[in-house]
Parts: sequence; C-alpha cells; structure tokens
Amino acid sequence: MSTGNGSDTRLTIHDFQERKDRGEKLVVVTAYDSLFGRLVDESGVDAVLVGDSVGNLLAGYETTLPVTLDQMVYHARSTRAGVKRALLIVDMPFLTYQVSPPRALVNCGRVMAEGGADAVKLEGASESVLAAIRAVTGAGIPVMGHLGFTPQSVNTLGTRVQARDAEGAKKIVEDAKKLEDAGAFSIVLELLPAKVAASVTRAVRIPTIGIGAGAHCSGQVLVLHDLLGLNDGFNPKFLKRYASMAAEVREAIERFGSEVRAGSYPDDDHSF
Ligand code: KIV
Repeated sequence: MSTGNGSDTRLTIHDFQERKDRGEKLVVVTAYDSLFGRLVDESGVDAVLVGDSVGNLLAGYETTLPVTLDQMVYHARSTRAGVKRALLIVDMPFLTYQVSPPRALVNCGRVMAEGGADAVKLEGASESVLAAIRAVTGAGIPVMGHLGFTPQSVNTLGTRVQARDAEGAKKIVEDAKKLEDAGAFSIVLELLPAKVAASVTRAVRIPTIGIGAGAHCSGQVLVLHDLLGLNDGFNPKFLKRYASMAAEVREAIERFGSEVRAGSYPDDDHSF
C-alpha cells in the first residue's frame, strides 16, 4: 500500500476496519508531541490519538473545555512529526464542530491540512454533531465518534459511568448506529458498563474502542501519561498502569540534584 507520503506502511481507516473484521483487537494510545508520538508509534499501536486531554495533562486545565483549535493544530503537527506508521487521529475541541456543518468542515480541514491528521474525533451524537459528521466525511475526512462519558459535556454528565439503566443503554446503542450511518469509521466508548459496550459493539459493524467500558469492545485506548504512571494522582477503577514513571522521574532528578550538590557530577568521564 503506497500512501504517497514517503511511507509505504501508513495505516488507514480501512486497515482499522479489516483488523476488526479479522477479530484482531485494536490498540490506541494518546500522544501530544513528536517524541512520545515516535515512541508510541514504534511500540506498534494501530492508532495514535492526539486527545484534547492534552488540556488536562499538559496545560493543567481542570477540563478539556478551554482547549483551542490552535492548540490542537500545534499538538497534531508536533505528533505528526513522530508518527510514521500508525493512524493519527486528532480530537476536535469544544464548539469547533457543533455550531454549523460549514464551520465544522473548515475547522476539521485545518486539523487535517495544518496538523497532518489522518482523521478527526468528534464527541456525541446530537443532531448538530451528526450533521457535522456528514459534512466532514462528505469532504473526505474520516471521523471517529465518541459516546458514553464525553469529556466536553462534563458539566452536564458529571464524570460517572454513563448508561446505567435500560433506557440509557438503549440510547447509546441507537446513537452508535446513528454515528455509523452518518459515516463515522469507529467509535470511542468511554465509562460504560461492560454489557452496554458489548451491545454497542454487536450493533455496529465499525470498530468500537473502549476506555473504562470493559473487555468486549473491538479495541482499547488509554491516555499515555496514565498508562505510564506519569499522571500518578489519577486513579480511576478502569486504569491499569504499565509503569511507574512519575516515581522514576522524581528519583532521577533527585539523584542529579544530590550529585550536583555533592560535586560528583560532572566527573572526569563527563567533562571535556
Ligand atoms: O482526549 C482524550 O484523550 C480522549 C481519550 C480519553 C479517548 O478522548
């Protein structure tokens, strides 16, 4: 497969679907810059997500709402520089796609053209979001949907598990079908009971990517800083840490400080 971008192996949304159809689980991890983008890509993930969680993790915001389009373009472009093989998906920030389909198209177009994204992610399945997805996919821009807990709606949803009753579960399944009909190539399912996420996964053909939504999704996504244990104040039940990097970072810097203070760094081996 030639991508016309100098890489013969860049994954596409078609690879994403084929892997799901073959029963392979999809792996998605976030990154916000070229260094981590490269490390995540080299680890063999299927997609790298430049999430608007960058607002929480790097900018120190309490929510994702203050993240701007310019910030997402900047982080997309930086991550693009490191990601050569995986599909690069970029979150569209709050109110950049709900106001009108033409505005959604222009804004998603910026993330693609200036940020170098392969696809964008939009939250929710309201009429305005569905109209945006139709307009954006109609212009050849792949869209990933996002249901369940959608962080840009934290002020109405809270941060709890969604769709805990039969009515909520039915609505999530219906919304997933609407996203698929509107042209989404995949859907993130966040903070849902495992049974509900399993029903959604059975109800649509496109891959579902879970986070806090149990094991029966087509794949899983985690935020890089959470899985590495860099964000050590964040302890939701679904999170498994695969490293304890916050402790390692502190320890390394403390050792550097001790050696500088003791005059043992730099020693002869580290001087010209
Ligand atoms: O912003 C983000 O990192 C996300 C993931 C949690 C799916 O949307």
